[in-house]
Amino acid sequence: MFFFVLFLWRAPVVCLDVDGQVVRINQNTTKRDSRFTVPLEQAVAWYEAYDRFLRLAHDEIVEFKTRPGDVYVFNNLRMLHGRKTYEDSPQNKRHLVGAYVDWDIIYPSRTPRFPQRPGMSSKMARLASPSIVEINEADGQRLKYPQVWLRDNCQCTECFHAPTRARKSHWERGPLHVGAQRVSYDEQRQQLQVDWQDEHKSVYQLQWLRERDFGDAARQRYLEEVYRPPVQLWGKTQFKDVSREFDYQNVLDQDEVLKDWLEALAVQGFALLRNAPDDVNVARRLAERIGYIKRTTYGDVFEVKSKPNAGNYAYLMMPLPLHKDMPYYEYKAGINILHTLFQSESAGGANTLVDGFHVADEMRRLYPQEFELLRSVPVNWYDIGHDGDHAQPFHSLWRAHVVCLDVDGQVVRINQNTTKRDSRFTVPLEQAVAWYEAYDRFLRLAHDEIVEFKTRPGDVFVFNNLRMLHGRTAYEDSPQNKRHLVGAYVDWDIIYSKLRTLRFPQAQECHQK
Ligand code: OGA
Ligand code: ZN
Ligand code: ZN
Repeated sequence: MFFFVLFLWRAPVVCLDVDGQVVRINQNTTKRDSRFTVPLEQAVAWYEAYDRFLRLAHDEIVEFKTRPGDVYVFNNLRMLHGRKTYEDSPQNKRHLVGAYVDWDIIYPSRTPRFPQRPGMSSKMARLASPSIVEINEADGQRLKYPQVWLRDNCQCTECFHAPTRARKSHWERGPLHVGAQRVSYDEQRQQLQVDWQDEHKSVYQLQWLRERDFGDAARQRYLEEVYRPPVQLWGKTQFKDVSREFDYQNVLDQDEVLKDWLEALAVQGFALLRNAPDDVNVARRLAERIGYIKRTTYGDVFEVKSKPNAGNYAYLMMPLPLHKDMPYYEYKAGINILHTLFQSESAGGANTLVDGFHVADEMRRLYPQEFELLRSVPVNWYDIGHDGDHAQPFHSLWRAHVVCLDVDGQVVRINQNTTKRDSRFTVPLEQAVAWYEAYDRFLRLAHDEIVEFKTRPGDVFVFNNLRMLHGRTAYEDSPQNKRHLVGAYVDWDIIYSKLRTLRFPQAQECHQK
């Protein structure tokens, strides 16, 4: 398989927040995948809109040049930025050093102009309509591609920089404004050749084209095999069937076991590692085995135990109701890694767990109106305080729905944390009243699906923090026996990337020539 994989994220160019305001722009010509997994007609229409957007953006460009000592800082979700070409000389080499910070940490058309010329179609490839190129496969199947997409994804060295797998930026030379003059298929080389009106020529390998087929089945295959494995939803009666266990040391030592573990986290949503040593670095080591630990206002690793003057409800011995960590972050922790160093010998201290995606799906099926409220009414989530150090206070605040859908309409994130829900509910009065009904329904459904288990020292309980609602039963420390967990977080961007590199190692080497 010839997949380019590492980071991969499916998102619209313009993203709105819960109040319908533009909150994020996605645009990077060099990083836009030639795999455009949307229906053919949508692709064609999208290019028009994208062209309009880029033209408006280009008309607003300002230009300036920094000097040594300048630090240029900008909102990466909002500002489109670029750089002009330059030349290094042996005595003078341009050199910048960069760093990123998340906002969670900072705040607390033209109509198509394709020629109607039919083109000299060869035996296998033809201009099927003004905007579509069609290849008839020997088995009678038809591969169809928008002309505009073909031009956009020309693989020649002028248009594509293979070593960085990057599309070169030349929007003004196409793809919207140049139609195909002639298309032909070379049987021997298994190549589609397109001669464009501006004399440019493009060649595409049949295999490369097949992998980018706009047909339903091919798109689905790519999304399931490469983008993300499909999740397996579960209710409490299926808990035994979906529970996966792995040996801690095997996860560290064997790539195959690491892959299976990450797949379990992606598919079933949780997994238990056994036989970890009595060592405060276990959670950190696992995070670093995947890639990068996520630093939050609670540090890079955090200790869950009963603390005097606790600043967080989790650091009490009280029961911890069903929740997800950090609903008050825009960039929420993807997974929680909770290593049990000491478990309570008292009756409590057990973990509770529910598949939040399953509950949301049940809610969608059984109570669609209430589901719609959870999906559309924004809730304020907050965290004010400090983690033991008065000199490092935080004031986190994020407005989000209880149920969030992805670009394909699937539940992708659940926000729920009773202890972190702000009493400032900034929605109209009537909405607030209706929302409480829906929220109650959701929590009841969730409670009916709770499973409970108690970890032992050496266990590492790891779960998808965007999907699983989790909690803990009350416990009592004694002077000789103090419950003590060490936790760490990793983002899903890092996990999926690692999973793809493990599943498709050959993608690293394979460049289209
Ligand atoms: C937490 C948490 C679980 C536990 O600290 O957010 O979920 O078992 N803790 O204490
Ligand atoms: Zn080209
Ligand atoms: Zn938690």
